[in-house]
Amino acid sequence: MRVLEIASEAVPFAKTGGLADVVGALPEALAGLGCDVTLVIPAYAEALGKGLPIEPAGIEFDVPIGTGSRRARILRCRREGQRADVYLIANDDLFDRPTLYGGASDYPDNAERFIFFSRAAVELACRLGGSWDILHCHDWQTGLVPAYRRLLYGSNPAVANARTVMTIHNMAYQGLFWHWDMLLTGIDWSHFTWREMEFYGQLNLLKTGVVFADAVSTVSPTYAREIQSAPGGCGLEGLLASRRDSLAGIVNGIDTSLWNPAADPLLPRGFGEADVEEGKYAARVALAARLGHAAPDARPLAAFVGRLVEQKGITLILDAITKLAGTGRVHFMVLGTGGRDEEHALRQVAAAFPGTVDVVIGFEEGLAHLVQAAADITLVPSLFEPCGLTQLYAQRYGSIPVVRATGGLVDTVVDATPETIRDGSATGFVFNGFDAAGLEHALGRALAAYDDKPVWKRLVGNTMRQDWSWQASGREYMRLFEQTRATTP
Ligand code: ADP
Ligand code: GLC
Repeated sequence: MRVLEIASEAVPFAKTGGLADVVGALPEALAGLGCDVTLVIPAYAEALGKGLPIEPAGIEFDVPIGTGSRRARILRCRREGQRADVYLIANDDLFDRPTLYGGASDYPDNAERFIFFSRAAVELACRLGGSWDILHCHDWQTGLVPAYRRLLYGSNPAVANARTVMTIHNMAYQGLFWHWDMLLTGIDWSHFTWREMEFYGQLNLLKTGVVFADAVSTVSPTYAREIQSAPGGCGLEGLLASRRDSLAGIVNGIDTSLWNPAADPLLPRGFGEADVEEGKYAARVALAARLGHAAPDARPLAAFVGRLVEQKGITLILDAITKLAGTGRVHFMVLGTGGRDEEHALRQVAAAFPGTVDVVIGFEEGLAHLVQAAADITLVPSLFEPCGLTQLYAQRYGSIPVVRATGGLVDTVVDATPETIRDGSATGFVFNGFDAAGLEHALGRALAAYDDKPVWKRLVGNTMRQDWSWQASGREYMRLFEQTRATTP
């Protein structure tokens, strides 16, 4: 099985969120299952600045864009011990920029950047020789790939028999652009209809991918169901329901070579279930030093790591902090970047409760690991969550997730009850309604369990023993690829 993974970000090259974690790990998982895997991503400044062994691949070509063309220079990265091939598509005008997608607002030419990237990826597939079985596309940035394969490259022997799989990581980001950007795609206007590429007058790249892909998947079974109706489908629920027979839900795995508390170079001391208390204490000391405190306090630490946007339930976190910080029962820590309002509100709440609430605005990989290791409780009160990775990292690092019952959180966290704690299946605390009272109640249950030492020890042990490695999910992707290969394109 020869698979081309196409995505806009991947660890260790460039990352804004969970997509990069998934695309960084999935190729190796597939390679481990006997797949011949190649990954292609854009050559962002971030990727080229990491000191990775990236070199010119000796391949260059022009990519048609509108009435002109842009040059694609192909780079290659070979890392020791990695089986998947990695190619990066360079075009300095488009990708040599400080961030991946823009700052407070998106780059105005994001349509052109990812139309170019998608077409260059298909061109590269054609030039690498041999033939491909699967082109695996991730999110709106690669949504044109299935359309290109079918409409413009269907007779090229390299991809003529390839099937396309479109994996949706988040319906809230669809790649919506004004209709004139259709001209950049090189695809005939006849496809700009509500049945294919158009969405309320705009060009919709994720919709295009869903329409033209041979199979569609998303990152958890529950989210696969949720997106087939409103509001989860974000306007594409009808289309997704019509594709329900080829819509798979596969839970993300985690890269256990990067997220392993026993051997994580980003922690002051490795730990496992047996010495979790010592490991957490060492992480708390390091975290306190990083935050400028003389010593860690003895209260349980409830942490949030993530994007500071509506999806993540920041309003609920703000309410919970405001209500509970005064009780003296718990210490809060937030690490994130995102909306200006959210950042401002969090800074204010930190200033109101010094010594009880710590807020770090920034994107710091090392600190994310340290916080998960130091925390007793990880908050994930999302409005919606396609899969979520932070609750999986938390589990592995012995931090108990408190989550809202939505999307992948439903599929990856089992609510702690006396029965589930006893039978070893409990992995967190789950609440339903998207309101502050729900989060406060669930956090209250977690704090009560924390105070009952034998119960907490058992819960932490159960949770740390969960296997969220890519083993099972990698096999599910392989099955999906096999099934898709057996279909008629
Ligand atoms: P999403 O992809 O919706 O942002 P996930 O839970 O799937 O959510 O993945 C988020 C990833 O991004 C995790 O690896 C998390 O540790 C990381 N992350 C998010 N915000 C930050 C931050 N401010 N600093 C470091 N890592 C972060
Ligand atoms: C998206 C989702 C998140 C998911 C990640 C990786 O960013 O918001 O839930 O874990 O993609 O699939």
